[in-house]
Amino acid sequence: MKVLIPGSFDPPTNGHIDVIQRASKVFEEVIVGVVVNPQKKSMFDVSEREGMLTEILKDFVNIEIRSFEGLLVDFAKESKVDAIAKGLRAMTDFDYEFQMAQMNFNLADFETIFIPASPEYGYVSSSMVKEIFSYGGDVNALVPLIVVERLKNV
Ligand code: PNS
Repeated sequence: MKVLIPGSFDPPTNGHIDVIQRASKVFEEVIVGVVVNPQKKSMFDVSEREGMLTEILKDFVNIEIRSFEGLLVDFAKESKVDAIAKGLRAMTDFDYEFQMAQMNFNLADFETIFIPASPEYGYVSSSMVKEIFSYGGDVNALVPLIVVERLKNV
C-alpha cells in the first residue's frame, strides 16, 4: 500500500519525522507531500522545506519527498496513492482533521488513515518551534539538527 502524508512542514519537527518513519514501516511506500500555500506566509519556502525533509529522511528507501500546489486529492490521484495518512496529536487536532478526512473522502473517495503521535512528541508543533526560537529558546529537543541550523540562518 502506498500512502501520502501531506503537510506544511514549516519547519519539519521531530513529531513529523516520527510519524513519517513509523508510516514507512507499515506501508510499502510513503510519499511526503509538502504543500505550497500561496495564502499562508511560510518561514521557509517550499524548496527549503522539501530539501530539509529529503536530507533528514535520505536513508529511508521507501520514502519520497515531493511538493504540491492545489487540492490534496488531485495530488493524491496524480501520485497514485491508495490513501492519505496523517499524524494526530491530541483531541485538539481531531475536529479539523476529521473534517478534512470527510471532505477528502467526499471529494474523491480517498480514505485517511490516522497515526497517533508518540507521547514524547504530542505537544510539538511547527508554530511553537518558530515562536520559541524567535524568543531565543532552545529547540534542540523538538526538531532535527538540520532544522536548528536552518533556523539560525533565516
Ligand atoms: O501541516 P498542515 O498545515 O496541518 O497541513 C494541512 C494540509 C496541507 C493537509 C491541508 O492544508 C491541505 O490539504 N491543503 C491542500 C488544499 C486542499 O486540498 N484543501 C482542502 C482540504 S479538505
